[in-house]
Amino acid sequence: MVIFGASGDLTKRKLVPALYALAAEGSVPDGFTVIGAARSPLSDEEFRADMREGVEKYGRIHLREDVWERFAAGLRYATYNMDAEDGFDHLKQALEAADRERGTAGNRLLYFSTPPNAVMPLTDRLNTAGLTTQAPGTFVRVIIEKPFGRDLATARELNTRLHTAFVEEQIYRIDHYLGKETVQNLLVFRFANGIFEPLWNRQYIDHVQITVAEEIGVEGRGSYYEEAGALRDIVQNHIMQLVAIMGMEAPSNFQAEMVRDEKVKLLRAVRPIHPDDALSHSVRGQYSAGYINGQPVPGYRDERGVAPDSLRETFVALKLDIDNWRWAGTPFYLRTGKRMPKRSTEIVIQFRRVPHSPFAGSVPLAAGAVPEDGIDPNLLILRIQPDEGISLRFGAKIPGQALRIESVNMDFMYGTAFREQSPDAYERLLLDCMLGDPTLFAREDEVEEAWRFCTAILDGWRAHPPDRTNSPNYPAGTWGPEESHAFMARDGRAWHVP
Ligand code: BG6
Repeated sequence: MVIFGASGDLTKRKLVPALYALAAEGSVPDGFTVIGAARSPLSDEEFRADMREGVEKYGRIHLREDVWERFAAGLRYATYNMDAEDGFDHLKQALEAADRERGTAGNRLLYFSTPPNAVMPLTDRLNTAGLTTQAPGTFVRVIIEKPFGRDLATARELNTRLHTAFVEEQIYRIDHYLGKETVQNLLVFRFANGIFEPLWNRQYIDHVQITVAEEIGVEGRGSYYEEAGALRDIVQNHIMQLVAIMGMEAPSNFQAEMVRDEKVKLLRAVRPIHPDDALSHSVRGQYSAGYINGQPVPGYRDERGVAPDSLRETFVALKLDIDNWRWAGTPFYLRTGKRMPKRSTEIVIQFRRVPHSPFAGSVPLAAGAVPEDGIDPNLLILRIQPDEGISLRFGAKIPGQALRIESVNMDFMYGTAFREQSPDAYERLLLDCMLGDPTLFAREDEVEEAWRFCTAILDGWRAHPPDRTNSPNYPAGTWGPEESHAFMARDGRAWHVP
């Protein structure tokens, strides 16, 4: 495996700790070799020391000396230079040495952990250097990190360019949400159980909410975030993947193309929002200074790399309609934000009320309660993280002579049901790529469909920039701008409080 841009944070924080964990559990053969590649010179020893620090600091499992010794024997470093004719010679030698000394047999996994603007030139140079072709009986696969383009046009351009060097089967577009156990379990929950699927449609579901809330701010990535914003950073990839998995039809088997075909079909059915309607279908927000867990935190505009008058969104709420028989008339509400009161990614499915309540009138209404019968709607809450689990909320009779109803939870918690610790998303995804299984990676058409939806909103936003007098519009440590609550209230609904 060659990691391009190995001097970046991702290698040390995520990739190498994940590879170490795979080595520790015996999922990769002893000859497995990682070549860190970057522009600046570094010795193999220096690279190993740096990576060891990463495993010790960020790894899921404790470093064991004997495992580390074995793993580190396969850690190498090579420089490359995109501007020089012979700029890949060093890397080629390192790859040949690995084949000779460690039996890697010409199989290559190329991980692009580079800045986004380097992906296309790197593809071209590797192609010219002959590093993208698969010799008979060997494989060359490439893993591409997000952001995958900035909009539909640039995503298409990137796909076209990648295809000059690789066929689609060689390309693995990584979305780490797909590597999360709880996201994979969504497929199992839906398609390995007979009791939920009959309810999984417009007839029984009133609406769906998907929330990706983060406590953290932009964590030193201000200049990236100024370019991206919440819609590109989270909605286009992670949330649209959750929408696809939540809404898709059952594949007839779990082969990669079967699963991905169904996801694409769903994404194609997402109704495009005309740029003129972008404002009525979305809410943008930006955080000002505030408090999280009682600690003061700075506003977005005070973060390093952020313009003092930035209008970039750190929060977005959207309403999405799906034009097919399963979902017509059942909207999906999506929201994500930085500096929310707590970290929580969840999918909430709100079921329709009973068609007629025999209890109407017999139930004293609690202050502020809306329903005529005192019964809250049933909710199915899929907690992706943290407190991973699933809850079903339903009405129960409060013990006593009077007929009073209260909502209670039926809970499944990963932490108590299973003893195993969940592997990190990168462990699963890297292993899948080595095994040649692209099921949990985004195919070309998936990415483009997600961009189709998001680009129209971006176009609408560009035509209607946020009101300067109302930006920032939510203090850190709150659930986003007031408009977000009004947005739901307009449809007679409310956000679930995680
Ligand atoms: C990344 C985004 O893709 O996902 C970050 O670029 C975000 O801004 C992160 O913080 C969230 O990932 P997770 O796994 O913590 O939900």
